[in-house]
Amino acid sequence: MTPASPTPISPGEIPAFALTQRINVPYEYSVHFTQHVFDPRNPLFADTVTGDDGPSPRRILLYLDSGVCAASPALRTGIEDYIHAYADRLELVAPPRVLAGGEQVKNGWRRVQDVMADIGDHKLCRQSYVVAVGGGAVLDMVGFAASLVHRGIRLIRMPTTVLAQNDAGIGVKTGMNEHRQKNFVGTFAPPYAVINDFEFLDLLPQREWVAGISEAFKVALIRDAAFFDFLCKNARKLRRRDAAAMHHLVKHCAQLHLDHIREGGDPFESGSARPLDFGHWSAHKLELMSDYTVGHGQAVAIGIALDTLVAARRHLLQPADVERILLGLQQSGLPTWHYLLDQKDNGGLPAILAGLEEFREHLGGRLSITLPNGIGHRIEVDEMDIEMIAECIDELRSRGTSPDDQAALDLVDFNGPLS
Ligand SMILES: NC(=O)c1ccc[n+]([C@@H]2O[C@H](COP(=O)([O-])OP(=O)(O)OC[C@H]3O[C@@H](n4cnc5c(N)ncnc54)[C@H](O)[C@@H]3O)[C@@H](O)[C@H]2O)c1
Ligand SMILES: [Zn+2]
Repeated sequence: MTPASPTPISPGEIPAFALTQRINVPYEYSVHFTQHVFDPRNPLFADTVTGDDGPSPRRILLYLDSGVCAASPALRTGIEDYIHAYADRLELVAPPRVLAGGEQVKNGWRRVQDVMADIGDHKLCRQSYVVAVGGGAVLDMVGFAASLVHRGIRLIRMPTTVLAQNDAGIGVKTGMNEHRQKNFVGTFAPPYAVINDFEFLDLLPQREWVAGISEAFKVALIRDAAFFDFLCKNARKLRRRDAAAMHHLVKHCAQLHLDHIREGGDPFESGSARPLDFGHWSAHKLELMSDYTVGHGQAVAIGIALDTLVAARRHLLQPADVERILLGLQQSGLPTWHYLLDQKDNGGLPAILAGLEEFREHLGGRLSITLPNGIGHRIEVDEMDIEMIAECIDELRSRGTSPDDQAALDLVDFNGPLS
C-alpha cells in the first residue's frame, strides 16, 4: 500500500506564530572572609542566615567534610554550641552530617540521593538552609542535591580548602561525576552566600594547601599580569605556608573569579568560550585517568604547564614567560608532569587527548580553548594541533622535576610507580 501523499502546501501557507519571553533575574550573593566563624562572638553566620524577614528560627541542615572533622575533632560540637547560642534565630534540624570528603563523594548518584532524602525527611522548605562545610567536592555534590529539591533550596557554602575558597566554592556551578566523565551532571545554581573562614586553611595537609595555588596561576595568566608577578615572587613563601601571602592570594583570586563570572557576559556558559577552564581540558581527563588519585589542583597545574607550552609554540608567550610560569608552579609546590601523560590510546596517540574531544562535545561540537596571549591576556583558539600537543608532552617529560624537589613536593608518584 502506498502511503497517502500529503496535500501540497506552499511556504506562504505554513502557519507561523511565536511569543517572545524575556526574563531578567538578578542574582546577588556575598562572599565573606572571616576567621573563627563558629565562635559565638562572631555573628556573621547568624546574620547571614537571618538577613531577610523570613520565619524565625531558621531551619538548617548542615553537612561537614570528614577531612575537616578529622583535622578539627571539636568542630561538630562547636557548631552545635554556636547554633545553641543563637537559638532564637537558628535551628539545626539534625546533628551535623559528616560526608566522606574528596572526589569520591561526587562519584555517582548515591550520595546525592541520600542528601535529597535527608532534606525531604526534615521537611526543609525554600526559606530553610542547607549549609555545606568542606572542600570543593563536598560543596559540588551537596550544592547539586540542594539545587534539585524543590527546584532549589538555599545553599550556604563554607569552603575549607584553598581551592574551594578561591575558586570552586564561590562560583555558580554544582556537579557530580557520571558516565565516566567528571562533572557530567550538574546545575547552574548560585549560592545564597559564601563564608570563607581562613582558620580552616591551617588544618590542611600540604598537598591541599598548595593545590589551590594552581587556580590562582590560571586566572592571573589570563587576566592579571601584576597578580602573576605576585605569585611568582611569593611562590616559595606560599609553599612554606605564609598566612598573609595565602590570604592575599585567596582574596584576590576570588575577586578575579567573581569579576569574570559577572563581567564575562556568559555566567551560565551558553556560549563556547570558557576562560576559567584554561588548562582544564587535560586536567579533568588526568584526574579521571588517575582514578582521582591526582587532585584537581595538581591536575590543573599540569594542565596549565601543558597549555603554556602549546601557547609558546603558537607564539603567544615568550620563552622567558614559559620559564617563569613553570618555575612559579614548581616553586609553589605544584607538579608540571605526571607519568599518565605518557599513556597511549589504541591508535598510539596520547590518551589524554580524549579530554580535548570530550571538551569539544561538552561545548556543542565546536572547540574553544583559552590560552594566554602574553601574560595577563587571553585568546580563544578553535583548533589544537595534536602533534604539537604530543611534542609539548615530550618537552614536559624532559623538563621533569628535580629529584630533590620530588621528595619535597611529595611528587614521587607523579613520575610513575616505583619499580
Ligand atoms: N563548582 C565549581 O565551579 C568548581 C570549580 C573548581 C573545582 N571544582 C571541584 O572542586 C573539587 C576539588 O576541590 P578541593 O580542591 O577543595 O578538594 P576536595 O574537596 O577533593 O578536598 C580535598 C581533601 O581535603 C580534605 N579537606 C577539606 N578541607 C579540609 C581542611 N580544612 N582540613 C583538612 N582536610 C580538608 C577533604 O576531606 C579531601 O580529602 C573537584 O571536584 C573539582 O571538580 C568545582
Ligand atoms: Zn578548576
